[in-house]
Amino acid sequence: MNLVLNTLGASIDKETIIALLPDNCMGCNQCWLKTPGICAIKDDYENILKKLVKADNLWLVFDTRFGFLDYKGKRMMDRIMPMLNMTIGFRDGWMRHELRYHALNIGLLYKGAADQALLEDWCKRTAANIGGHSLGAIPLDATSSMVQNSKHSTLNSKPTHIVIINGSPRVQKYSNTDKIIHTFAQGMEEGGVTWELHNLSSRKEWSAAREAFLNNERILIAFPLYVECVPGLMLEFLETLPKERKQHAEISFMLHGGMDEGNEFRLCERILRGLPEQLGCSYGGTLIHGGSFRIRTAPADQVAKMVTPYIEMGRLFAQKGNFLSPEATKFTGMEQYPWLIRKMVSLLFLKKVNGEFEQFAKDWGCTRPLGDKPYSE
Ligand SMILES: Cc1cc2nc3c(=O)[nH]c(=O)nc-3n(C[C@H](O)[C@H](O)[C@H](O)COP(=O)(O)O)c2cc1C
Repeated sequence: MNLVLNTLGASIDKETIIALLPDNCMGCNQCWLKTPGICAIKDDYENILKKLVKADNLWLVFDTRFGFLDYKGKRMMDRIMPMLNMTIGFRDGWMRHELRYHALNIGLLYKGAADQALLEDWCKRTAANIGGHSLGAIPLDATSSMVQNSKHSTLNSKPTHIVIINGSPRVQKYSNTDKIIHTFAQGMEEGGVTWELHNLSSRKEWSAAREAFLNNERILIAFPLYVECVPGLMLEFLETLPKERKQHAEISFMLHGGMDEGNEFRLCERILRGLPEQLGCSYGGTLIHGGSFRIRTAPADQVAKMVTPYIEMGRLFAQKGNFLSPEATKFTGMEQYPWLIRKMVSLLFLKKVNGEFEQFAKDWGCTRPLGDKPYSE
């Protein structure tokens, strides 16, 4: 069976599509740790999940922006999380979440200008995460392809003030990005740099975030990887920014995510390289580091260990004003674990981590096993 999800609007049964349009995933983790397999947002996406557990192939039809899926398409995919379990293992040599149901193949049908190679790679990676393979990325119209690239840093002076935007959909109180930002900022403060923070998880903060974005020279966007790329909510915010601005600015990114290996972040980094140009800005590089999902669930002493290295990166940013230095590149760590480390991680570390998730779930009032299947296949 094929299930077609359409976010284009106009031409195909508008009522059905509007009814299907869900809200953004807010990263609350309830579908993994409180009510396994069931999304906390009560809308029509539950019907989509019930159909997905019976489907072999998922075709997503969407419009494009920034050379990638627009926010409506991306949020459809962000909300697919209940199809996976919180628990992690190695599959095909890569660290991945375990499947809650069966494998799902994914295909993309898109409208507008996009980076075709990037969409194909994203589709392969996303399908592999759900145990399936890519059915391809197929353009619906013959628009020009778009390859992403921005001018590298053009600001020579040392930074004095940084606008930081937290692009995580998760409320600030529980956001791992927030903990990373505050630790990083300690280092910036030591270097005499002042900063202000805007959280996209609260829509009330969007207009102040937009103002700050338009009226400052140095912007730092920190965010978690969501389904191999930028969260739908952050894309939605970026789509509200004008394409041109009066004064020049530079955007640097701080990208982190659950999985440890640097390779996990490279596809998203490709998008980030092209993004500033499309917002009238230059590119100040991307600081990448994995293994952040445990910030929320691990004991405080371990959390401190995980975030402390960001202080040094804050000092570096205060000096250089960007992440285009070898020190920032090195911060990512290993691109892919060698075979022996993978075996050790799988035997020792993941067992501990998965146990930690189960304990966290119990403490949160979860009464079902984490691998529960609430919808029948
Ligand atoms: C919907 C969703 C999708 C995610 N996708 C990925 C992913 O593709 N790769 C990854 O390494 N981590 C992924 N993560 C994990 C987050 O990047 C990680 O937990 C991060 O620390 C969350 O930061 P925050 O608390 O500021 O939102 C995902 C999390 C959610 C909720």
